[in-house]
Amino acid sequence: MRVIDLRSDTVTHPTPDMRRAIFEAEVGDDVFGEDPTVNRLEAMAAEKMGKEAALFVTSGTQGNLLAVLTHTKHGDEIILGDEAHILWYEVGGAATLGGVNMRTLPNDSGGCLDPDDVLLAIRERDIHCPETTLLCLENTHNRCGGTVLTIEYTNDVCDIAHSRGLKVHLDGARIFNAAVALGVPASALVQNVDSVSLCLSKGLSAPVGSLLCGSTAFIERARKLRKMLGGGMRQAGIVAAAGVVALESMVDRMADDHANARRLAQGLAAIKGIRLTHEHVPTNIVMFGLVPELSAEQFVAGLEEAGVRIIPLEGDLLRAVTHCEVSNPDIDEALTRIEAVCRRLRVR
Ligand SMILES: Cc1ncc(COP(=O)(O)O)c(C=O)c1O
Repeated sequence: MRVIDLRSDTVTHPTPDMRRAIFEAEVGDDVFGEDPTVNRLEAMAAEKMGKEAALFVTSGTQGNLLAVLTHTKHGDEIILGDEAHILWYEVGGAATLGGVNMRTLPNDSGGCLDPDDVLLAIRERDIHCPETTLLCLENTHNRCGGTVLTIEYTNDVCDIAHSRGLKVHLDGARIFNAAVALGVPASALVQNVDSVSLCLSKGLSAPVGSLLCGSTAFIERARKLRKMLGGGMRQAGIVAAAGVVALESMVDRMADDHANARRLAQGLAAIKGIRLTHEHVPTNIVMFGLVPELSAEQFVAGLEEAGVRIIPLEGDLLRAVTHCEVSNPDIDEALTRIEAVCRRLRVR
């Protein structure tokens, strides 16, 4: 039985073109700045983001942590959403390694922070208070269901942060999903942020790596901090080569993943026992729940047996993600299998 793996877009494998590029990659010692393939990837990413420079990092988590470390000093406060990936899934690195206080504001269902809340949360200069130095945004927003921040919203909230002397970092692990969904260049979505991290190993299907992009001075500092974190990789062109292919050839096709996610959501909504928690599915993430009679644990185990994999989040919240290894017919097949599992569990 073919397994349909909807747990995450991170399960995607390198494509044949990527494997070829890896095999043929020209490499050098990247800590000395001598890996031509890494240099090429960094230049491409900087260009696509409209930033002066970029840094190849091991993961999205490392990119976000480096952004926090580079933009702030120990004891500062950063503002971020209460559903932010940085808060939930990055092992608290910003607090433990960066020594910053994470001040959370409610994310609305679209993954936005209310600009008025942001303004109010910025600390006045006061002997009692930490200094607020960074605002973190996320586009697309993972825990809000792959929602998209628009150019206008991002610019508005950047203006507020900048007017009070804060920097803005965007966790853009899936920034190309946002760009494809909105039909705009990714650079337009990040024009006013001070830094953006983007991932190669999610919907773009590369095996490893992310890029942190920003000004030349910012990236120079981040490069040194990457070394401190043990992220100075030597002949990293071996993996960067796949990243070059990812940026060249895997972006536009993500529209198919979005269409598949919408179809999956429509199909799920029609299955007895399932309720969509996020009706709007703008990109490749589908969030749903179950009626009280169905247990999430049994449901996920039943799907696993039926060859469909999804991720349980907390409570009865479940997540399915589409990607380049899930085809249009796979969606129909997944829905058939999911329906059968629901029927069996409801009858029991
Ligand atoms: C929005 C977002 N940011 C950052 C990350 C972290 O990426 P990595 O798993 O490469 O550390 C993820 C991973 O899923 C994510 O969804």
